[in-house]
Amino acid sequence: MVAFLLAAFYAARLTLSAPIARDDSSVRAPLRFTADGTFQISILEDLHFGENAWDTWGPQQDINSVKVINEILDKEAQQLVVLNGDLITGENGFLENSTVYVDEIVAPLVNRGLTWASTYGNHDSAYNLSRSAILEREHRWPNARTQQMVFDTNAGVSNYYLPVYPSGSSTTPSLILWFFDSRGGFLYQKLDSSGNEVGQPDWVDQSVVDWFKATNTNLTKQYGNAIPSLAFVHIPTNASQAAQTEAGINPNYQPGINDDYILAGQAQGWCADGSNDASCTYGGQDVPFMEALVSTPGLMAVFSGHDHGDSWCYKWDTQLPGMSVKGNGLNLCFGQHTGYGGYGNWIRGSRQIFITEAMLKSQEVDTWIRLESGDVVGSVTLNSTYNHDYYPATPDTMTYCLTCK
Ligand SMILES: *[C@@H]1O[C@H](CO)[C@@H](O)[C@H](O)[C@H]1NC(C)=O
Ligand SMILES: *[C@@H]1O[C@H](CO)[C@@H](O)[C@H](O)[C@H]1NC(C)=O
Ligand SMILES: *[C@@H]1O[C@H](CO)[C@@H](O)[C@H](O)[C@H]1NC(C)=O
Ligand SMILES: *[C@@H]1O[C@H](CO)[C@@H](O)[C@H](O)[C@H]1NC(C)=O
Ligand SMILES: *[C@@H]1O[C@H](CO)[C@@H](O)[C@H](O)[C@H]1NC(C)=O
Repeated sequence: MVAFLLAAFYAARLTLSAPIARDDSSVRAPLRFTADGTFQISILEDLHFGENAWDTWGPQQDINSVKVINEILDKEAQQLVVLNGDLITGENGFLENSTVYVDEIVAPLVNRGLTWASTYGNHDSAYNLSRSAILEREHRWPNARTQQMVFDTNAGVSNYYLPVYPSGSSTTPSLILWFFDSRGGFLYQKLDSSGNEVGQPDWVDQSVVDWFKATNTNLTKQYGNAIPSLAFVHIPTNASQAAQTEAGINPNYQPGINDDYILAGQAQGWCADGSNDASCTYGGQDVPFMEALVSTPGLMAVFSGHDHGDSWCYKWDTQLPGMSVKGNGLNLCFGQHTGYGGYGNWIRGSRQIFITEAMLKSQEVDTWIRLESGDVVGSVTLNSTYNHDYYPATPDTMTYCLTCK
């Protein structure tokens, strides 16, 4: 039925091939390292589907974004796709159909029998678009692994974890994937007394930080030791900004584009007292989340999007000037802007994360960016000497949507 609806949808809108119906069991099975002992994730981020539906350039952007997704999925051999926020540009949405874009985004994944897990970004909340509705739309497919595990009213939606099991049949996870909701954007169907849309705080809420710490303590107790982990959150923390402005991003030691300077992070545009006042640049509300990140043994890297013009990784291993929270060696990574929607013309692509069971022992992660051109850039190993290992610089290439007139 779903395949039929999707086929009808595509015949009507994009005239792409219909998805192939598949047996659900493989997409519902727990995540597991392959028989070769490897696990790969492709991050698609800042897709920004659904801009200007009433004009030709909006839908044309989305057709181009679908091409990028197909190109990446054809070239890489991932076990999981992470949709790391800003799936949709909700400000442009009509109440009655603001989530239909989820169908377009996931069709290339459904066609390949791939599963995905999302975090939501600031553009995934708007007057006509709610995060809960996106979650519901994702779950029209058994391939969706996105969940909501924290139900505090201020928590946002996409806060959860997924265990990844070793190859074979062990029931003890060897890797935990954490997903956090950094919220932002505007509250669904809410206006203030003057008729203006109401902003939603743009940091990981305290209730989520508390849940993260408690759940991690439980997992550690249950399995007897800290399990290596990775985290995904759409908006980076202030630590990324401090890395950029205080330590500096070097094109050979932290290869990637570094054009969003100064980058935008959590709690931007909010005051310390919690008021949403344009006169405040940063309210500091992401400090508890940063503290929780650096006090989680085994957490190897945090992956963010949001800043389309930044694609580097930095190992946060020092006390950066001005910061109360001290880094512990946690790697802070941006991905690559994947969509033709959203600001900027940096070449589109997707960050890959590759881990082997052997690498987990030394808590190392390989990562690179696969571009829409088919090229690979920024291939690095996030090991103990990252920040000191010399790599080729990433060219700062631009691409344009030629049919978006
Ligand atoms: C919300 O959706 C309604 C119904 O389609 C539309 O008329 C309105 O312009 C939209 N509002 C916003 C702020 O996008
Ligand atoms: C959503 O609804 C609007 C207004 O009813 C319509 O113009 C638009 O084409 C619809 N978009 C999609 C993707 O179905
Ligand atoms: C942690 O475990 C305790 C005891 O089993 C349980 O009561 C609690 O709900 C768990 N907390 C979380 C966040 O899972
Ligand atoms: C955030 O980072 C900046 C450096 O970019 C630093 O000056 C500031 O003190 C930091 N704020 C907090 C609360 O860590
Ligand atoms: C980390 O990885 C880089 C790139 O493969 C390598 O040159 C370096 O020797 C590695 N460091 C350690 C401690 O293994």
